[in-house]
Amino acid sequence: MRCPANPLGWCKLVRMQIQRHKILLGVTGGIAAYKSADLVRRLREREFDVRVVMTSGACEFVTPLTFQALSGNLVHRDLFDEQAESAMGHIQLARWADYVLVAPATADFMAKLAGGRADDLLTTLCLATTAPLILAPSMNKQMWRNVATSNNLRLLLSRGVRVIGPVEGDQACGDKGEGRMTEPADIAEVMHRWVGRGCLSGLSVLVTAGPTQEALDPVRYLSNHSSGKMGYAVAAAAADAGATVKLVSGPTSLATPFGVERFSAVSALDMHRCVMENILGSNIFIGAAAVADYSPAEPAEKKIKKSSDGISISLHKTRDILADVASLKSRPFTVGFAAETENVETYARSKLSSKGIDLIAANDVSKSDRGFESNDNELYLYWKGGSKVLGLGPKIQVARKFIDVIADLYHEKYPA
Ligand code: C5P
Repeated sequence: MRCPANPLGWCKLVRMQIQRHKILLGVTGGIAAYKSADLVRRLREREFDVRVVMTSGACEFVTPLTFQALSGNLVHRDLFDEQAESAMGHIQLARWADYVLVAPATADFMAKLAGGRADDLLTTLCLATTAPLILAPSMNKQMWRNVATSNNLRLLLSRGVRVIGPVEGDQACGDKGEGRMTEPADIAEVMHRWVGRGCLSGLSVLVTAGPTQEALDPVRYLSNHSSGKMGYAVAAAAADAGATVKLVSGPTSLATPFGVERFSAVSALDMHRCVMENILGSNIFIGAAAVADYSPAEPAEKKIKKSSDGISISLHKTRDILADVASLKSRPFTVGFAAETENVETYARSKLSSKGIDLIAANDVSKSDRGFESNDNELYLYWKGGSKVLGLGPKIQVARKFIDVIADLYHEKYPA
């Protein structure tokens, strides 16, 4: 179904059809529990249906009546409350939820969840639900840094739990640091993006990002200025749009975006191998990495000694990952990047056809306020029969618009 007035209107139609998602909001016993009252309002403003489950600790901070009034629903507290169970039993509640969001999630709650405990209503629901689980942790900065909490977090992330925050700032205990619960409006915004912009729901996306390093000898390499920020933003935006995302990354210092599975590659050859191992089943491939075009033909096994005459190094051409993906028999929708300093459209369009890809995103790297290591970017998109400019803005914002265009073109090419 497509909006006649807007041939690229797929995302908007999906948004309209899936407006009222059901969120089970778990509130645990931390000082940030008072902020969760505002979170209920913010989520309802975003058209979510909200039901609240409180732990006994949470009830020490805020009364259930507050959440009842704000959510418009009875608050659930007790696993053994006959009245509540007969109205909506805990298994029914677990099935009702499209998403389970726990905010604030205390260190103790994360530990219980990591250990698979089910000793109160909220932990039982978390075990009994098949809905995605999202945590907004809140705790003192030392508790957040504690190795026990870090290990629990790692375990939960490896099980697919998503985490929003925490953020840095003043803490109720007088400390300053990382551990504050993300602000309610920001949590609601993230939920809205994850849920409401599901224009890539059900699709698998493989993204490459960052530079590659081509060894000259055991201590030196050839590389480039790519920071990986654009590719990481694209991977994050694809995950936010509901895709299952794999990211094959060259060496960068960036954190893996939430909900993204990351594979590390060093050289162009590594990256090629890793992409080919993971491409099967991908619906969309986005080659955002700055892959080296040339690699030393014979890297020295021992450190090359200084010579007064200079040295020459023979380079061979690396394999073009993007072109190889595009020439696969059963190929994904293939998207490439082009860094240009002049004649942007002409060069980008010639790459579009020579590499046989569906869409190319060009950036003008001659301008110092965008591209490479910058936090901002502007993209010129070209595809057969169309083009679009995504104006200068933070890379994550540009990436979200880019993902919308990719989704529209993908669904146009492969109608449901
Ligand atoms: O040909 P050029 O390097 O300008 O093309 C850039 C595009 O090709 C980017 O999408 C980049 O990720 C991809 N590429 C690749 N493998 C290479 C070289 C470039 O996938 N060896």
